[in-house]
Amino acid sequence: MEVILSTRSTAPRTAPSFVAFGLFEGQSTAPQVLTPLAQESFNQAMDAGDVPTSSDEDLLLFVGAGDQRSRILVVGLGAKGDFSEEKMRRATGQAVRAAERCKQTSVTLLLPEAGRRAGDLARAAVEGALLAAWTFDELKAPPEPGKEKTPVQRFELWAPGGKRSALNRQTREGEAAARGANFARTLQSRPANLATPTHLAEQALQMAEDVGLEVEIFDKKKLIKAGMHALLSVSNGSAQEPRLIVMRHHGGRSGDAPLALVGKGVTFDTGGISLKPASGMEDMKYDMSGAAGVMGAMRAIAEAKLKINVVGIVPSTENMPSGSSTKPGDVVQSYLGKTIEVINTDAEGRLILCDALAYATEQKPAAIVDCATLTGAVVVALGDQAAAVLGTDDRLVAELEKAGERTGERVWRLPLFPEYRKQLDSAYADLKNVGGRKAGTITAAAFLREFVGDTPWAHIDIAGVAYGDGTLSYQRKGALGVPARLLFEWVRARSA
Ligand code: BES
Ligand code: ZN
Ligand code: ZN
Repeated sequence: MEVILSTRSTAPRTAPSFVAFGLFEGQSTAPQVLTPLAQESFNQAMDAGDVPTSSDEDLLLFVGAGDQRSRILVVGLGAKGDFSEEKMRRATGQAVRAAERCKQTSVTLLLPEAGRRAGDLARAAVEGALLAAWTFDELKAPPEPGKEKTPVQRFELWAPGGKRSALNRQTREGEAAARGANFARTLQSRPANLATPTHLAEQALQMAEDVGLEVEIFDKKKLIKAGMHALLSVSNGSAQEPRLIVMRHHGGRSGDAPLALVGKGVTFDTGGISLKPASGMEDMKYDMSGAAGVMGAMRAIAEAKLKINVVGIVPSTENMPSGSSTKPGDVVQSYLGKTIEVINTDAEGRLILCDALAYATEQKPAAIVDCATLTGAVVVALGDQAAAVLGTDDRLVAELEKAGERTGERVWRLPLFPEYRKQLDSAYADLKNVGGRKAGTITAAAFLREFVGDTPWAHIDIAGVAYGDGTLSYQRKGALGVPARLLFEWVRARSA
């Protein structure tokens, strides 16, 4: 989709075929820049009481006839005081969905505010449009002639009288963020027979060429040489080789400490010898959502050319049962050196993350954020409305909370009291990989904490939010691309 920024303050000579604008509660006039004919049509609808102002509602008006006919979509925005970037994103997604329904391939959206927030709203609007237009049909036969979909191909953001130079940056940032998230959704959506650890590594290399990143791949031989036996132990039962993917963005001064992003890349989680039940197991292709989020964020960071150094680290493997699988009770030695008693082979995420986190600390980062579909317990605790965040650094956690609020990829903090660590005590090794029935999300984080030393670190458990029903206007059922935009926003805010 092509994204165009327009700041003209008069109506164009030929009316755009599909124009959307938002209406706040109490607002009863259409934007001045609409044609007189459009104003009249709006006024009639207003007089008739047909115009919605509460968010989620919209009204489609037809204006003019023949070649000059255009569609005007009025989207309710709710109270002006409650308006937010997320509401802008949803309203724009709603406009793109409406355009799709009436086979319009070009959408013009009027920015509702010209003030201080215009840039942030512009970024969110562009995100909403690109996210809404994403589809995944690479595995289906092409539709029969005449039955082709008509995707929106052109999105024009119209900010009458806006400052072009200022709005341009946010528009491009919105594009980068959404493209990154859409890339994550595509990777998530691919089934595990296609999206193997090797495939993720190839995609990282391709992305490096496309947007300009430095990529280093650890194959099995190199992982053995490095001593990443916790990661290797998870891949023991699989015919697919594991990989560690390291992506570097050099946007800051050389020598400046990078930010580190780490993402769980289990391309399929059967549970291993501690086998999961069959029902719903197909969803475990999404167990690489953390990896997809980090890869998407890295793509966005590179495309937006953020002036900061960032390293993205993705440990990737399958978790399979077989004669060569790791068995409950086995003890493995991690990259850091600590030994781990594997009580449950289904708690594999923390095993691959602990080696990646220890590697991340060697990069001497200013902070580490990891994300993972780590525990079923977080789904019980927070459902699909927020990811859990846990960490050792209050400032870092607060930054992530803020980024979550702005991107709509919300996070909610859980405690990491030192007392929880006792649940991981092992009779045979330095620690065991599960902490029992109580506080599953917290004990998983307490495990990870053992591998980050003193580096400011936060962990985001996305098991409840990475994929789902996709009920928002800019989502689709299945892969949600979370937390690519959250991570991008965190890095963007640190680089600003
Ligand atoms: N990948 C799962 C977590 C998960 C559950 C993701 C539901 C998405 C939806 C993870 O590897 C896992 O199996 N965790 C176990 C840990 C337990 C054995 C301590 C869990 O949560 O049941
Ligand atoms: Zn598991
Ligand atoms: Zn898993």
